[in-house]
Amino acid sequence: MKIILNKNKLIRSIKNQKNLGFVPTMGAIHKGHISLIKKSNSICDKTLVSIFINKPQFNSRNDYKEYPRILRKDIAILKKNKVDFLYLPNMKQIYPEKKIKKLKIHSFSKQLCGKNRPGHFEAVVNVVNRFIRITKPKKIFLGQKDYQQLRLIDFFFLKNKILTKVIGCKTVREKNGIAYSSRNLLLSNKEKEIASRVYKIIYSAKKKLIKKKKNTEILKLQISKLGVKRIEYLKILNTNKIFKPYKKKKKFKIFFAYYLGKTRIIDNI
Ligand code: PAF
Repeated sequence: MKIILNKNKLIRSIKNQKNLGFVPTMGAIHKGHISLIKKSNSICDKTLVSIFINKPQFNSRNDYKEYPRILRKDIAILKKNKVDFLYLPNMKQIYPEKKIKKLKIHSFSKQLCGKNRPGHFEAVVNVVNRFIRITKPKKIFLGQKDYQQLRLIDFFFLKNKILTKVIGCKTVREKNGIAYSSRNLLLSNKEKEIASRVYKIIYSAKKKLIKKKKNTEILKLQISKLGVKRIEYLKILNTNKIFKPYKKKKKFKIFFAYYLGKTRIIDNI
């Protein structure tokens, strides 16, 4: 695996790659990331992973400061999983200008996570767009756990005629149902147990919620009783009616975000 810190060196190293797969990450590599890497390895000639903790997409200083940083371990895992290139840029490489210009993205960015995190998705799409302009991959691999991010990036690429194909990959879960996430490293065993019960409760209520035989308020109450102090949102959306042209067929997903201690958990089922 070639580890590259410098943008120009990276561009030189990958310039002949016609079928490059790209997996952007903020590090703390877990099985969710590994599934994206495996997918890329299976359909692309080479795989590029980036680790960059993108400060502008954090809404609180503390959240940024406390984001897990385990670079040595990450490098070992990426090598084991046959990544070809690892790009580790610093802030200046990605944001050479002083004032970062905001991008215009779809209004779906204002719903769900976007309601409580103003500017978050603009910053995510911005950094991904910058990576794509540098690396020009054939495909980019993103997890469906961050569904809103995935769809907003896909829409932005479509609107801006970016040729990189967005591949959304299935959420990978621990045996107890919790979706793999870098932030899981911040959870205690007790919090993990609660997260697992939250997942199971929502999973088993899904059909009833969709058929309106149960409402989200009752479900929220059940979740609170498990020890969850703050539920940011719990919403059912027809995902075929988010981006135009809408599809006739209904496809419902339940989106939720809540806090366990200081750790924010998001997922969708
Ligand atoms: O999902 C993430 O880890 C980040 O939002 C991403 C896509 C790497 C952009 O910083």
